Amino acid sequence: VIFDNSIVGSKAVAQEIAELIRSKQAKNKTCVLGLATGSSPIKVYEELVRMHKEEGLSFHNVVTFNLDEYYPMTKENRKSYHYFMHQYLFNHIDIKPENVNIPDGTVVLDELNQYCIDYEMKIKESGGLDFQLLGIGRTGHVGFNEPGSHINSGTRIITLDHITRVDASSDFNGIDNVPKRAITMGVSTILRSKRIVLMAWGQNKAAIIKRTIQGDISSEVPATFLQNHSNATFVLDKSSASEL
Ligand code: GLP
Repeated sequence: VIFDNSIVGSKAVAQEIAELIRSKQAKNKTCVLGLATGSSPIKVYEELVRMHKEEGLSFHNVVTFNLDEYYPMTKENRKSYHYFMHQYLFNHIDIKPENVNIPDGTVVLDELNQYCIDYEMKIKESGGLDFQLLGIGRTGHVGFNEPGSHINSGTRIITLDHITRVDASSDFNGIDNVPKRAITMGVSTILRSKRIVLMAWGQNKAAIIKRTIQGDISSEVPATFLQNHSNATFVLDKSSASEL
């Protein structure tokens, strides 16, 4: 779906999420959301906060799982995805703190394998993701599933691609300060979501959007695996869609 700009596109995505939350509430069910970081989803979160404040949208039945976190990374670090999510969303809505799940960048290396297995299990035990929000990196990563990520990959630690670290370098005041690794949900974790919405805004995403939507399905561009999902939508603006 191609919108005129990211403002209207983000509002449409927030509207879909709000409708899902409300329909689950009407049935007394939990709504399990997979959430993303980066600049792409910020306006969606702002719109959800507005709906909470002005329209009484409640998150009391919502459980969230974030896609990824840098490793190592403390929660207090302003560059952490933990900090980001609280800044843009969790501090402003009525979600129960125990319902918020973000990969923990402080887990010691020895325990990381088990931690990732447990994260995966927790998603399953919650009933699975009803909705997964995604951005896309210039490498074609979703979450931090960099080129080479297998379609069957689960939550794990990954080495970040050089391009990803270059793109993050302005946030970290130089590439040397960008963590070299991250914890990420896997491709299979994402593909098991009942609904997937990938958002991309701006000209600098146009080339990877073309490869993702029109290119061959391959782990070289992990986002291409979404082509085979039965309920995935790419929400674009005119610039990111300009090479299609
Ligand atoms: C990071 C995140 C991704 C995100 C990507 C794009 O690498 N781990 O989940 O999609 O950045 O970021 P942006 O939305 O700022 O372009």
